[in-house]
Amino acid sequence: MTDCTLTIAPGSLPGTPSWPWPTPGLSFGGDYSPEQWSEEVVREDLALMREAGVTLVTLGVFSWVVYEPREGTFDFGWLDRMLDLLHENGIRVDLATPTAAVPMWLHRLHPEILPQDGLGHPLAPGGRLGWCPSSPVYREYALRVVEQLAAHVAGHPAVAMWHVSNEFGGGNARCHCPVSAAHFRHWVQAKYGDIAAVSAVWGMAFWGNNYSSFEEIVTPGGSTAHNPGHLLDFERFSSEALFDHYQAEKLVLRRLTPEIPVTTNFMVGFGPDVVDYARWAPAMDILANDHYTYGPDPLRHEDIAFAGDRMRGLTGGAPWMLMENAAGAASWHSTNLAKKPGELIRSAIGHLARGSDSVMYFQWRASRSGTEQFHSAMLPHAGRDSRIFHDICRLGGHLDRLAEVRSSRVVGARVAFLHDNEAGWALRSGLKPINDPDYATTGRALHTALFDRRVTVDVVPAWADVSGYRLLIVPGLFLASDDTASAVTAFAEAGGTVLITWFSGIVDETNSVRIGGFPGAFRELLGAHSEEFYPLLGEERVALDNGWTAQRWSELVRVDGAAATAGGTASGDIGGDASGVEVVASYADGDVSGFPAVTRRTLPGGGVAWYLSADLEPASLDEFVGRLLAETGIEPTASASAGVEAVRRASATGSYLFLINHAGVEGWADATGVDLLTGTSHVGRVPLAAGAVAVIRE
Ligand code: GLA
Repeated sequence: MTDCTLTIAPGSLPGTPSWPWPTPGLSFGGDYSPEQWSEEVVREDLALMREAGVTLVTLGVFSWVVYEPREGTFDFGWLDRMLDLLHENGIRVDLATPTAAVPMWLHRLHPEILPQDGLGHPLAPGGRLGWCPSSPVYREYALRVVEQLAAHVAGHPAVAMWHVSNEFGGGNARCHCPVSAAHFRHWVQAKYGDIAAVSAVWGMAFWGNNYSSFEEIVTPGGSTAHNPGHLLDFERFSSEALFDHYQAEKLVLRRLTPEIPVTTNFMVGFGPDVVDYARWAPAMDILANDHYTYGPDPLRHEDIAFAGDRMRGLTGGAPWMLMENAAGAASWHSTNLAKKPGELIRSAIGHLARGSDSVMYFQWRASRSGTEQFHSAMLPHAGRDSRIFHDICRLGGHLDRLAEVRSSRVVGARVAFLHDNEAGWALRSGLKPINDPDYATTGRALHTALFDRRVTVDVVPAWADVSGYRLLIVPGLFLASDDTASAVTAFAEAGGTVLITWFSGIVDETNSVRIGGFPGAFRELLGAHSEEFYPLLGEERVALDNGWTAQRWSELVRVDGAAATAGGTASGDIGGDASGVEVVASYADGDVSGFPAVTRRTLPGGGVAWYLSADLEPASLDEFVGRLLAETGIEPTASASAGVEAVRRASATGSYLFLINHAGVEGWADATGVDLLTGTSHVGRVPLAAGAVAVIRE
C-alpha cells in the first residue's frame, strides 16, 4: 500500500479541463444496471433511451461479481455485449470500476476487510462499501479487478470516461478496525515525527492523557470524549485514506487507458462533506457531483444553486458534471416526496445554469427489487406512459437545443464565499458553545439572501485566488489557518470588501483556540473583537438598535482601543475609535445590550472589513446584504420578478441567460434574445409562466 498523504497540495486547482468531454453536446442519461434485467427489457431500454435522447450512461457501478463470479475467474462477456449494444445505439459509456460493492465470496474469504465503527462492530456484508480503506487485502483484490477490466475494454469506442468506485466514504468513511488504527498511528507519526509534539498539538495535557509512545494512539471511537485536535486529525486521515485508494485505482486506469478521463462522483452539498472534496479535486480529470434534494425543504432550488456554486469553486470556474440526481422521490427519508409538477425540468436547468454540462440521474430504470426499489428513475415502474418519462423526454429535447451552451462558463460573480471542509470538521470535533453546530447555517443564510437578489456567488476553497472579486464573505469559517487569515487581510488591504461572520477564525489548524479575543484570525483586520459568546435559546431573540433582530447567537464585542466598559452602557461609551472602525449597529437588549453587534472598518487603502457578530434573522440579513451590495456596487444578473432565478453563462461565441421561475405565479425577467428552448424572440422582457424556464441567447 502506498503512504496515505494527499499528493496534491492545496492551492492547485484544475482550471480549464484539457480532457475531452464524453459527449459532443450536453451529456444526458444516468446509472444503468442492465444486469438486473432480461434481454427483452434491455432491448426496450435502448429504444426508450433513443426516444428520450440519452447520450451517456454510467455502467457497471456494482458489477464486480458479474466480472469475477468466483475468485480469480474473470468473464467480461456481459460487458462486451452491453458496450457493443450501447455503441450501436449511439450512447457513450461512463464505465465504473466495480469496487464499491464487494462480492460475497470475498467477504467469506476475508471477513477482516469489513470496516468497523467506533465501537469495533464490523459492517455486515451484503450492502455496499463494505471495505476498509486501509485494508491491503481489499486493495489487492480491488486493483486486480480494475486491472483486468481496464485491460479488457481498452480501445473500445463506447468507453468515454472512468467512474472510480462510487461515492467514496458513503458508508465506510471512518473505519476503526485494527488495520485502520495501525495506519492512523503511522499517519500521525509521519505528520508530527515526535510523540511529545502530538501530545502538545492535541492538548493531551488537559485530562492528563499525554502519550509516551505512538503505540498508545487510538482512533477516536468508543464511548469517551476525545480531544478536538485528535478528532480533526482523524477526519483528515480518513479522507486521505480513501483518497489514496482513489489514486491507486486511477494509476491503473491511466496506465492501461491513458486517453480516457478519470473521475469519481462527489457528494458536494453545504458541507462538511464526508471527504475533503476541495483537496481531492485536482486529482479529477472531470469533476462530477451527485446531488439529491430533500423533498420537504422549501429551498430545494437554492440547495441546487449552492452545490453548483461550490462545484465551480472546485473546477476553477470550468464546467462540471452532474453525475446523479433524482427524477422524482428518493427513498431514504421518512416520507419521500415526489417532485412537484415541472420540478424535474427546473432542477435540471438549475444545475446547468450553475455550470454543469450534463444532467444525469440515478438511475435509468427503477429497480423491481433491491434496497432502493422505490427510488425514482428516468423510467419509473409505471413505464413509458408516465409524467416522469414524459418530462425526461421533454428535457432530452431541451438539452439537444442547448448543445451550444456546452463548455461556456458562468460569468459575472463578484462575490466569493470561502468554504473549507476542515472548518466544518473542526466545528463538530469536541464540545462547543452550542452543541448542535452546523457549519452550513451561516453560509446557507447568506447564500439565500444573495440568491434571492439574483447575485451570482462563487463558493471557493479557503486558499483560492480571490483577487478578482469585489466582496469576500467568510461565513462561519470556524477554523482559519494563518495563510487564510493573511489572504483575507491582503484582499481588504488591496481595496476589497470583506465580511467576517460570527464564529469564524476561532481556531487554528490544530483545532486550538486563537487567544486574545475572537475572531482571533481576523481580529487585527477588524479592529474589533469579542470576548464572550452569548448564544440564545430556542425562541429567544435579541434586538439591535437599528431595528434588526438576531436569533441563536450574540457576542460581547468591543472595538479595539475603546474603553472596556461593563455591559449595559450606552453604545457611545464603547463604539468607534480612531482606527477607522464604525459601529453600524449595537445590541439594544439582552445581556450584551449597548455593545457593538455589527462593525465596519475602513482601511487606509479604501478596503472595508465588516464584522457581523450576530446571527441575523432573514429579513434583517436581507437588509444587511442589500447594504453590502449597494456599497460595493454589485448588481443582480438581471432584473426580474420575485422568485425568478437568473444566471448567465458565456463563451467566446455566445451569452446565455438562464431563467427559472420558482414562484407559483407568472413572472418576468428583463432580457433580449432568443429562447433556445422554444425559439421565441424576446425584446426587453421575457414573460415567465409560473414554474417556467427559459434560456435566452442574448
Ligand atoms: C447515491 C448512489 C446511488 C444511489 C443513489 C440514490 O447517489 O451513488 O448508487 O444509491 O444515491 O439513493
